[in-house]
Amino acid sequence: MANILVTGGAGYIGAHTCVALMNAGHNPVILDNFHNSSPQVLDRLERITGQRPVLVQADIRDRLALDCALEAHRIDAVIHFAALKAVGESAEIPVDYYSVNIGGLLTLIEAMTSANIRKLVFSSSANVYGEPASVPVREDFPLSAGNPYGRTKLMGEMILGDLAATQTGWHIARLRYFNPLGAHESGLIGEAPNGIPSNIGPYVAKVAARELPEVSVFGDDYDTPDGTGVRDFIHVMDLAEGHIAALDGIWAAPGLTTVNLGTGKGCSVLELIHAFEAQSGRRIPYRIAPRRPADIAQSYADPSLAEKLLGWKASRSLADMCRDTWRWQMNSSAAGEEDRALTG
Ligand SMILES: NC(=O)c1ccc[n+]([C@@H]2O[C@H](COP(=O)([O-])OP(=O)(O)OC[C@H]3O[C@@H](n4cnc5c(N)ncnc54)[C@H](O)[C@@H]3O)[C@@H](O)[C@H]2O)c1
Repeated sequence: MANILVTGGAGYIGAHTCVALMNAGHNPVILDNFHNSSPQVLDRLERITGQRPVLVQADIRDRLALDCALEAHRIDAVIHFAALKAVGESAEIPVDYYSVNIGGLLTLIEAMTSANIRKLVFSSSANVYGEPASVPVREDFPLSAGNPYGRTKLMGEMILGDLAATQTGWHIARLRYFNPLGAHESGLIGEAPNGIPSNIGPYVAKVAARELPEVSVFGDDYDTPDGTGVRDFIHVMDLAEGHIAALDGIWAAPGLTTVNLGTGKGCSVLELIHAFEAQSGRRIPYRIAPRRPADIAQSYADPSLAEKLLGWKASRSLADMCRDTWRWQMNSSAAGEEDRALTG
């Protein structure tokens, strides 16, 4: 059993990873400032696992808070999720993105160095491949980033690469996530962004629940089977379990490990909408809109390196992702109704 600091642990992927950590017998300590999440997640985690993770409410750039958390909770390793993550927003407020995503990472590395903690799992993104020349995307493909968010992930990877190359004793995993979707099967936790969702999963769910009028499908003239963008949707619990495999992997092997976490299957936006209709039993109105400048035609992973190095492979289907997202959406809509009734 290890004590794992989970920065951004109240967020979407972080909360699901806390469940996977507790299932694996570890002790997560969540550090989050609730910029894009809510303290209620802690109650939900306790209901799912019977164990309430310790919470440190702090900004990832707060060095003193990090020093105290690492020491007080005798942290053995860190999984670093805390970041700003919306591609579109990153083009509007890039400095905030550099401050949180790069400033936060540097502060964390300095605090870990001074506490002599050298095991780190980092949330990277398929965004670091820019527009891949072909699919499936392998880890040795050229890297580039077409927006400030992607650049923060690429720079984060470079910083960690330089760290591992120059300082001995570090065990670092850089995990390149494809497109997380779905929710825990209990329906108690799921993606709950503050404001209008920027990711397609929760957006489609809100349209199905009649909380938003329609889905905008950005472009239907890409060179893909049905003309809409193709992505590699991966169940968030598969992704969460990938972090446990990565932790086990870096525990055994020092240095730097970089892997894709995806399913290896491409799915178009229209396929996703139809799969969601099948699971929710609701018609999902959509409208074809112009392409967005930052979007690419298709991206899906070659996940074989993660299987080879970490023994990890995604196992849940697109239907599972849609069913679990819908269950979570229905639960959160019901909770919203109740709150509104209680507050008059
Ligand atoms: N969801 C995706 O599609 C996706 C894809 C690839 C990579 N990622 C990366 O995975 C990580 C987690 O993503 P997510 O989808 O769970 O996002 P999320 O927004 O749900 O979770 C991030 C968490 O970090 C917290 N946070 C933000 N700024 C902070 C700060 N300054 N100090 C402390 N906490 C702060 C937020 O409150 C939130 O709880 C991020 O690093 C993201 O860039 C996400």
